[in-house]
Amino acid sequence: MTERPDIRPAEGKLGVLLPGFGAVATTFVAGVEAVRQGIAKPVGSLSQMQTIRLGKRTEDRTPLIKDFVPLAALDQLVFGAWDPIPDDGYASAVNAGVLNRHEHLEPIRGFLESIEPMPAAFDTEYVKKLDGPNVKRAANKKELAEQIREDIRSFRETHGCQRLVMVWCGSTEIFLRGGPQHETLQAFEAAMEANDPSIAPSMLYAYAAIMEGVPYANGAPNLSADIPALERAAVERGVPIGGKDFKTGQTLMKTILAPGFKTRMIGVNGWFSTNILGNRDGEVLDDPASFKTKEESKLGVLEHILQPNMYPDLYEDLYHKVRINYYPPRGDNKEGWDNIDIFGWMGYPMQIKVDFLCRDSILAAPIVLDLALFLDLAHRAGMSGIQEWLSFYFKSPQTAPGLYPEHDIFIQHMKLKNTLRWMMGEEQITHLGLDYYE
Ligand SMILES: NC(=O)c1ccc[n+]([C@@H]2O[C@H](COP(=O)([O-])OP(=O)(O)OC[C@H]3O[C@@H](n4cnc5c(N)ncnc54)[C@H](O)[C@@H]3O)[C@@H](O)[C@H]2O)c1
Repeated sequence: MTERPDIRPAEGKLGVLLPGFGAVATTFVAGVEAVRQGIAKPVGSLSQMQTIRLGKRTEDRTPLIKDFVPLAALDQLVFGAWDPIPDDGYASAVNAGVLNRHEHLEPIRGFLESIEPMPAAFDTEYVKKLDGPNVKRAANKKELAEQIREDIRSFRETHGCQRLVMVWCGSTEIFLRGGPQHETLQAFEAAMEANDPSIAPSMLYAYAAIMEGVPYANGAPNLSADIPALERAAVERGVPIGGKDFKTGQTLMKTILAPGFKTRMIGVNGWFSTNILGNRDGEVLDDPASFKTKEESKLGVLEHILQPNMYPDLYEDLYHKVRINYYPPRGDNKEGWDNIDIFGWMGYPMQIKVDFLCRDSILAAPIVLDLALFLDLAHRAGMSGIQEWLSFYFKSPQTAPGLYPEHDIFIQHMKLKNTLRWMMGEEQITHLGLDYYE
């Protein structure tokens, strides 16, 4: 096994930079501030609330993760954002309609108003349903990326940050496939200069972050840093990265239920998922090109968990369908229905119906927090490139070339905790446990 790393202490301020300052990003920053002020609890965050077992079950050592690994504390966090829509944090949170205005936004209004988004590297070609005036202008995409790098440097300076991390909370961009422009850094930079359409705005932020030594996570399903040029640049520059697409809502449910079926060798021959949602994200996903990016991200999950090639009798005929319907009256409070056709002993059919009245941004906000804190930890531990141990948080986890992604949330969870144990020089927990009976 690789030797455990030395971890630099979490001293000073940690700047959390957010391209995209909509529902998820504002719910995240408002929540952190509410926790700091003692008016809310960080529910859903492993880094803040979960314990970790160390050693044998008889040792009774189960510290909180935040007391076990040296994470930045919440009061060390400062926030920056970019968005083509110029709304400050308060106006954007009110518009998103996730948090109760009187109970949770008014008490921290001044704090939220103090975060004003920087002009975005934005192009409506990649998010067709949106537009806004708060945008950067430049002769080409390389210059736009240089402007983002300049923003990063001046944010670090102005806020006196020791370290920074960036989490993409921007809209889902249109579907793009990786091509030769994404293979090497040289080709990527040339493509930026040539304004090549294969370079989406989210890639400019990822590039800027990596070049500035800032860890980068992608909360949306678009490629962004999931291309060989940027993956290699991240390794070469000692920058940890992770993606893609926050695992919330219906897909979270899938990755909880499907491993259960497979564990018990229960067959599945149909899984129909449909959603209604009415927030800005829903409006963006109403565009077929953005939906295609999301659909690819959502569809891969069952295939990887159920492994139909290994279990053809149980999963070969699985019909999987995902629908997202933009329905404004619901706002951020989406509703997701799943009809799951399963079968048991001798092939007898059964059905499960799930009706999840979900609040997407409420599920996503703690993921942003954990990713920011864990990526910063990984950076201080000298880890770089794709951080597979953070797959727990993503719908389509990035992996090394040739590796299939692990989607089972329970395996992902064990991997995350074993990585933390490894970082701190604690034994891996294998659950063998024979010695208890010797
Ligand atoms: N809410 C969830 O549970 C969840 C789960 C998984 C993934 N996501 C993804 O997270 C992202 C954010 O979701 P949301 O609900 O906050 O959406 P949102 O529409 O409320 O916010 C996204 C913001 O990004 C901005 N934006 C778009 N392109 C940009 C660019 N190039 N630079 C800077 N800002 C840009 C938009 O103006 C918008 O304000 C979406 O891509 C969504 O698909 C959300």
